[in-house]
Amino acid sequence: MEQKAWLIFVIFTCLIASSCGRELKVDHKHKLPVYNHTLATILVEYASAVYISDLTELFTWTCERCNGLTKGFEVIELVVDIENCLQAFVGVAKDLNAVVIAFRGTQEHSIQNWVEDLFWKQLDLNYPGMPDAMVHHGFYTAYHNTTIRHGILHAVKEAKEFYGDLDIMVTGHSMGGAMASFCALDLVVNHEAKSVQVMTFGQPRIGNAAFASFYAKLVPNTIRVTNDHDIVPHLPPYYYYFPQKTYHHFPREVWLYSLGLGSLVYRVEKVCDGSGEDPTCSRSVTGNSIMDHLNYYGVDLMCQEWRSCRIVMDPRVAEYGKTDHKGNFILSRAPAMRVRSNEGEVKASA
Ligand SMILES: *[C@@H]1O[C@H](CO)[C@@H](O)[C@H](O)[C@H]1NC(C)=O
Ligand SMILES: *[C@@H]1O[C@H](CO)[C@@H](O)[C@H](O)[C@H]1NC(C)=O
Repeated sequence: MEQKAWLIFVIFTCLIASSCGRELKVDHKHKLPVYNHTLATILVEYASAVYISDLTELFTWTCERCNGLTKGFEVIELVVDIENCLQAFVGVAKDLNAVVIAFRGTQEHSIQNWVEDLFWKQLDLNYPGMPDAMVHHGFYTAYHNTTIRHGILHAVKEAKEFYGDLDIMVTGHSMGGAMASFCALDLVVNHEAKSVQVMTFGQPRIGNAAFASFYAKLVPNTIRVTNDHDIVPHLPPYYYYFPQKTYHHFPREVWLYSLGLGSLVYRVEKVCDGSGEDPTCSRSVTGNSIMDHLNYYGVDLMCQEWRSCRIVMDPRVAEYGKTDHKGNFILSRAPAMRVRSNEGEVKASA
């Protein structure tokens, strides 16, 4: 028994020592972002809430998932692209002193089908204005060429006009993480946004090494959280022998995993190096789990039901909406305006 306790002590000390050592040795051109666990546990709740299909509850921030660390959030705009089955919101979190932008993951097929498709995604688009930077066309257009981008940019502008210069925090899970990355880059490159930070959960690779370098330089304050054996961050695959041709993650990964010692299990949050492809982080294991993809920090990241592009909306909230000819719509309101459909009414109608 004594020996076991001693062994745990040694392993634990090594673990702490080696992660400290790594931290100091990192040799990188840009300053690496600091990982903030508290912030991660807050942002993951936003990434979870954006999956809610009851738009009344989401717009008025009264959904079950809206009641924890994100309480008091003020949604300014909710964008629903029916055509492409995408959903995102922008709002103000006064406790974070920030505009928070969150993107939902894919809802198109079953998660299995979507993951299988990810194996075959090509690097088939030159990122505009960045020589040699290639990305996946589908991920790029999901943000850039749908109703999403316009809605987001409009709401960010409104929030800034009303509240002054807040920080911008962009988050998303899975495919939503890919969109969050493109959104942050867009804000920095095309809209001169300052203090933009990104935290994504279980996002796939979205571009090549040249793209990752541009990205890291322009949006240095980015954390990509990966959970244990989550399969999605391993996709599209990284081909070690074809550095010019392969997808490549941008930094900085934080890898969550469990360290089991008999009946004791420690949750470790490993802050990875500045390469984007730290071989000692998620790359050190096989990505073979969909379960690990759907829950981060104990928070569920998925719809209540798959295959649902279905939405639910209360007519009183519908009056805040604008619909285009394809059925896509945006619910929006001026910052600091109360929505008329108050909590009691919403509950009564549910
Ligand atoms: C981490 O984030 C939380 C929430 O935004 C903040 O209150 C705290 O000060 C941050 N910690 C550090 C060390 O920056
Ligand atoms: C975006 O959509 C327009 C019109 O549908 C199309 O002409 C254009 O090529 C698209 N851009 C990209 C990058 O796919």
